Amino acid sequence: MKGERGLSSSGIAIERPKGRAALEEFARLPFHIYNNRQAWWPPDILNEVDLLIGRNPLSPYIEIEPLCARRNGRLVARVSVVINDRYNRHWNERLGQLVHFEAMPGEDDAVAAMLERAVERVRERGMTAARTGFAAFLDYPYAIDNYGEFPSFLLRGNPPYYHCYLKNCGFETEKGQTDYTAALSDEILQRYRGMVEAAGRGGARIISWRGFGYLAAIDAWTDVTNAAFARHWGWNPVSRAEARTMLSSLWDTPVADLSILAVLDGEVVGAVFSVPDLSAALASIKPGTRLAPERGGGTRGALINIGVVEKARGRGIARAMAAQSFLEMARRGARYAGYTLVLDDNWPSRRTAESLGAHVTSNFLTYRRELARPAGR
Ligand SMILES: CC(C)(COP(=O)(O)OP(=O)(O)OC[C@H]1O[C@@H](n2cnc3c(N)ncnc32)[C@H](O)[C@@H]1OP(=O)(O)O)[C@@H](O)C(=O)NCCC(=O)NCCS
Repeated sequence: MKGERGLSSSGIAIERPKGRAALEEFARLPFHIYNNRQAWWPPDILNEVDLLIGRNPLSPYIEIEPLCARRNGRLVARVSVVINDRYNRHWNERLGQLVHFEAMPGEDDAVAAMLERAVERVRERGMTAARTGFAAFLDYPYAIDNYGEFPSFLLRGNPPYYHCYLKNCGFETEKGQTDYTAALSDEILQRYRGMVEAAGRGGARIISWRGFGYLAAIDAWTDVTNAAFARHWGWNPVSRAEARTMLSSLWDTPVADLSILAVLDGEVVGAVFSVPDLSAALASIKPGTRLAPERGGGTRGALINIGVVEKARGRGIARAMAAQSFLEMARRGARYAGYTLVLDDNWPSRRTAESLGAHVTSNFLTYRRELARPAGR
């Protein structure tokens, strides 16, 4: 490979896309990979381009460099190198994050060249490890099952060959994650009511963000989440200002009723962020396709994030907040509730999901490559 735009004898070129047209082409690659599916979640192209040109609420905190691979001029793979100083300071780590990874099938050489270039960029920035498949608000882990099916909101539905690409580039499994689903039967809804009442008897007020005051609830969510997730793998603190920018426009949507806070002795000690079934609004669904009710089509809400500050744990507050969120989902017509993305070793959260009657329905991996040694040594 010669230089940034050099073309190898195999017709492969690794480039840094520049200018709006090239960045839009970069952002559109998923359409070439997933568009033949019956249902998938297409990217928000404008939002992605804004992120790549530094006009996103996260932009002040990260450096991002998109890279793509072309073979004979055709875009066949892409990835973005992210250096997140806030993350690295929080964890006292020197980690580079590879986000946006997508690739066409049968492009082993082009993908290997692109990933090596991305890893080289991470190393040049003084980082000692690269991670792909999780970066808070930027990327989600790689699916290891349910291939070809409609994934849960936010989660990847990547093809199986991605794992070979990543492992051939020296990546190892760093973490496993699971997605849970609860069937909202009459019997379980009855149990949920009991969970909310029990928390109330214990002195906790379980209240929706709308009931609390939506804008104040965003700040409360930020504070509780920063405290509860301070030592949670993969997380970095977020500011009130950026959370307000990301969430305030949702004030007049069901998010305000499905998202919950817990107040104990006048202090907010727990927070849940949940969304309604967004498949009709945001997914690309081929005409005539009927989604399985536990996957979408108006019948699957999802709890995206749950946290309880340490001093209030172990008294049923998480269970009660999730139960209240799921009750509201059911009232609005949901028959299933997702409890999205739990680390395999996060037993407090897994037990919370299980105590809500939820079961593991999909599995995911995050990869890591240590850079102190060459790949495979
Ligand atoms: C996960 C978390 C929200 C649980 O909050 P909590 O209010 O302590 O949970 P609850 O008291 O409602 O307990 C719910 C269930 O989990 C179990 N549980 C909670 N903490 C546990 C622990 N440390 N070990 C084992 N089981 C635990 C409870 O026994 C209960 O199950 P049961 O009904 O079968 O008895 C809290 O630990 C937290 O904020 N952790 C950090 C952030 C995080 O990991 N969030 C989830 C990301 S996916």
